[in-house]
Amino acid sequence: MTEQSCGIANFLLLLCCRMKHCIYPGTFDPITYGHLDVLSRAAKLFDQVTIAIAANAGKEPIFSTEERFNLVQNNVAQFKNVKVVGFTGLLVDLARDLKADAIIRGLRALSDFEFEFNMALMNRHLEPKLETLFVMPNEQFSYTSSSLVKQVAKYGGDVKHFVPPDVAAALKKAYKV
Ligand code: COA
Repeated sequence: MTEQSCGIANFLLLLCCRMKHCIYPGTFDPITYGHLDVLSRAAKLFDQVTIAIAANAGKEPIFSTEERFNLVQNNVAQFKNVKVVGFTGLLVDLARDLKADAIIRGLRALSDFEFEFNMALMNRHLEPKLETLFVMPNEQFSYTSSSLVKQVAKYGGDVKHFVPPDVAAALKKAYKV
């Protein structure tokens, strides 16, 4: 097989296997460049991506669901196939309502694996038709998390390498620094 025909075969395979709609769920308190890296990969693989912002009161987010929604929305405008929603309740119920084919999650390091593995299996138990897919964000984001970013921002540290400018400004305002 020539290199060209191999390329065409791969393209056709991708076209046939392409799943249409995935959900990228999270608390996004706040959204970081790491989340945006995962999103950019999902947006290339799927026709439509819905970012689902969990109200997730258990995590005591510093930003309200509406604030997190606005910060996410402001930073995804360049992706034409991305929509943002907020949700409460089970992720699988949202996936059924939106007729999503898959959940996409980022795996930053081995330490993410156990949590993600359990969550994927529980979601599969609740809705066997829903697949969970994992993508690896760029290694420069392997140590980024919303909590660490908040901790740095709280004590006046510079977070511009980890979050977009409007998120950095919102953190400054929230922590009055
Ligand atoms: N870059 C940077 N940070 C990332 C990241 C990436 N690519 N991927 C994950 N993170 C960070 C997040 O910032 C977050 O950091 P924090 O703990 O410091 O806040 C952490 O990793 C966890 O990631 P996140 O995607 O925000 O997961 P979550 O635990 O907040 O969200 C839900 C989990 C919302 C998807 C899950 O609880 C859920 O589905 N809830 C709905 C209820 C439900 O259906 N429960 C049953 C599920 S089995």
